[in-house]
Amino acid sequence: MQIIVSDDLYLSPFTDEDIPGLLDCLNRPEIIDNLLTLPFPYTRNNAELFLSHNAELFDKYGLHLNYAIRLMKNHALIGSIGLQLYNEMHRKHRAKVGYYLLPQFQGKGIMTRCLNTFTLWALHTFKPARISATIFIHNIASEKVALKCGYILEATLLKYYKKNGQYIDTKLYTIYNE
Ligand SMILES: CC(C)(COP(=O)(O)OP(=O)(O)OC[C@H]1O[C@@H](n2cnc3c(N)ncnc32)[C@H](O)[C@@H]1OP(=O)(O)O)[C@@H](O)C(=O)NCCC(=O)NCCS
Repeated sequence: MQIIVSDDLYLSPFTDEDIPGLLDCLNRPEIIDNLLTLPFPYTRNNAELFLSHNAELFDKYGLHLNYAIRLMKNHALIGSIGLQLYNEMHRKHRAKVGYYLLPQFQGKGIMTRCLNTFTLWALHTFKPARISATIFIHNIASEKVALKCGYILEATLLKYYKKNGQYIDTKLYTIYNE
């Protein structure tokens, strides 16, 4: 399944052929320093586990939750956007979104377009009451993207994460299903 973002960009599920691209993206400090839960270095085994996790999610929900961001012209992987669903009383009540882009594609408005499209798709498809992004306090670019896509600042969570021995204050941005 594909989600068309614009004339030059689309989202589609990850495949085995994306393993080199995943290793390229997720071994870059500029990207992983802003993400929480990824191992570093990110190995081929990590990428294979990610692909099998995606397959399990597909079996559970009948749809993919994690998508590669690709260029329309050559299908190259340039980043990723994905959703985590949280079940409460067997209902998909809450969701969390995460995203990243290769450095050479940043600052061109690409993630704003991707998050906009993906958020509308996710709200419509899974009908969660809310989708949140937890954004490290120093990540101004991500905060701007969330704001431009209609997410609002719900809270600033002090010492919310601990990464490499350091506490990181985090902003909670949320969009609600009307
Ligand atoms: C955060 C990220 C996804 C943004 O993607 P992007 O395509 O570059 O974002 P956009 O170009 O759509 O918008 C970025 C906005 O932030 C601004 N910006 C970028 N870097 C900035 C900085 N260091 N300080 C202030 N503003 C900055 C841009 O000018 C732009 O704002 P504008 O539209 O008002 O000019 C990308 O930087 C990235 O992948 N970072 C590493 C991983 C990451 O942080 N993921 C998010 C985790 S919550």
